[in-house]
Amino acid sequence: MPASLMLVGAGKMGGAMLAGWLEAGLDPATTVVLDAAPSEATTRLCAARGVALNPDEPTPSRVLVLAIKPQGLDAAAPALDRLIGPETLLVSVLAGKTTADLKARLPAARAIVRAMPNLPASIGRGATGAFPNAAVTPDQRAAAGGLLAATGTAVWLDDEAAIDAVTAVSGSGPAYVFLMVEALAEAGIAAGLSPEIAGRLARATVTGAGALLEADSAEAAALRQAVTSPGGTTAAALTVLMAEDGLPALMRRAVAAAKRRAGELSG
Ligand SMILES: NC(=O)c1ccc[n+]([C@@H]2O[C@H](COP(=O)([O-])OP(=O)(O)OC[C@H]3O[C@@H](n4cnc5c(N)ncnc54)[C@H](OP(=O)(O)O)[C@@H]3O)[C@@H](O)[C@H]2O)c1
Repeated sequence: MPASLMLVGAGKMGGAMLAGWLEAGLDPATTVVLDAAPSEATTRLCAARGVALNPDEPTPSRVLVLAIKPQGLDAAAPALDRLIGPETLLVSVLAGKTTADLKARLPAARAIVRAMPNLPASIGRGATGAFPNAAVTPDQRAAAGGLLAATGTAVWLDDEAAIDAVTAVSGSGPAYVFLMVEALAEAGIAAGLSPEIAGRLARATVTGAGALLEADSAEAAALRQAVTSPGGTTAAALTVLMAEDGLPALMRRAVAAAKRRAGELSG
């Protein structure tokens, strides 16, 4: 955990990360939160843990985590730039804002880590891809890595362009899995189950399979093969799902579309 941290924007993502960091041992005494309209939960968390919320004269910290909406960056930039000292590492989770975009708006920033977390970070089960610019020191990288790992799995990227692919795979990915639950439930209804029972079974199947994946280090393909007897019911379904125009092909197209869109939204 860094020696001091300032979080700017404690909404859904920022608030969830803050809660995870405090659990992971971040020192509340050296933590400052700035939020234009703090939620009740953020206000309560800060008061309970002794974190300074919207102090009158904040000073630069070792790490500044930026978690406001991307469209708010231009308006916030002049005030934010004054909160960045020569030693400050800027960690941005702003979708679509490259390290060059951030540097252009925040000239005081030198070391920048651009991260793309996802929604399950809010329960400490996120998947984050992060890119450090050339000015990030090994110590700063370790500090950022520790912060991101406190919200789940974090991986470093060598190439900033890969952030668009991360956005398409893990950033948007939770929605694909939610859709899988919906589709499985709908198929269950079509197969004769009541909507209530189909919904409960579909949900429990996806969360149960996810828990198995987590508990077992085997590859997903090995787990799939282990539950697929030749000529059995699972094999019959997988023949459809794995056909040439089946799920793998569909997923490739879906991820490519999300990646393309991430590129279009950048800037
Ligand atoms: N949610 C996700 O799953 C997810 C995933 C990946 C990345 N992200 C990124 O995370 C960032 C935040 O998203 P979010 O969903 O957490 O948004 P959010 O819930 O709207 O949170 C942003 C918070 O920042 C506050 N804020 C705005 N401008 C500010 C300023 N200049 N100084 C201090 N506080 C300010 C907002 O207050 P007001 O409400 O008054 O504006 C709000 O409380 C976005 O850039 C997004 O791209 C989110």
